[in-house]
Amino acid sequence: MVAQTAVEDATGSGVHRMRRIVILGNGGHSAGVAECFIGKVQPNTEVIIVPWDFMPEPDDALTFGMGPTPHKKKLLELHGQERFCSAIHPSATVSRRAVCGSAIQIMAGAIIQAKVWTGKNVLINTGAIVEHDCDVGDFAFIAPGAVLLGKAIVEENAFVGGNATVLPGRTVGKDAIVGAGAVVTNDIQPREIVAGVPARHLRWRRDDE
Ligand SMILES: CC(C)(COP(=O)(O)OP(=O)(O)OC[C@H]1O[C@@H](n2cnc3c(N)ncnc32)[C@H](O)[C@@H]1OP(=O)(O)O)[C@@H](O)C(=O)NCCC(=O)NCCS
Repeated sequence: MVAQTAVEDATGSGVHRMRRIVILGNGGHSAGVAECFIGKVQPNTEVIIVPWDFMPEPDDALTFGMGPTPHKKKLLELHGQERFCSAIHPSATVSRRAVCGSAIQIMAGAIIQAKVWTGKNVLINTGAIVEHDCDVGDFAFIAPGAVLLGKAIVEENAFVGGNATVLPGRTVGKDAIVGAGAVVTNDIQPREIVAGVPARHLRWRRDDE
């Protein structure tokens, strides 16, 4: 539901309800998220970027202003999943035959092809491509320019770095990290960190990252 907040009518003829979309977190990611709403909201809707600990009005719609999962989880704990809306940039292309979970963010120029499935709170960043029949789990982060080729699987909270490519049908396990520019030719284990072309094991992901 889109949010509303009371503002005085300048003409004095009554009180209008101003709709608000609140972007929680004012780091670098937030400006791109704000652009997702340009030309898409009603004239009586304002989009504001605020620090992550801003206390929204009960009927504000919320979206994430930052990408890392621990920050998103903190906000979800504070406000509840149902308060968060999706943000899809006007220049992104999302197939009508894709099925996306709630509170996803699809940034400028990204492409989501037919029969893609995504979970909740997923970030598909600038110019990333998710090809047909891919599965992308909750909280997955697909960095700018990354490409998931057909039927690739990126499990929950996995991170695919900038310009990395996951070859068709390969699986990036839960909480795994694929380094920037890597080409994933084999399945990646949960929590495994890989990099390079072809992608090779670097180390295991720590609990604090
Ligand atoms: C893969 C990654 C997670 C590794 O991080 P790290 O554990 O801190 O790695 P380090 O910087 O300590 O490097 C360890 C080794 O791996 C190499 N390496 C690191 N990242 C690499 C990459 N993307 N490709 C190839 N080699 C890489 C380093 O050169 C170093 O090699 P050396 O031991 O021979 O010197 C990180 O480098 C990365 O690529 N992150 C993705 C960033 C990204 O895409 N962000 C998007 C933000 S929107």
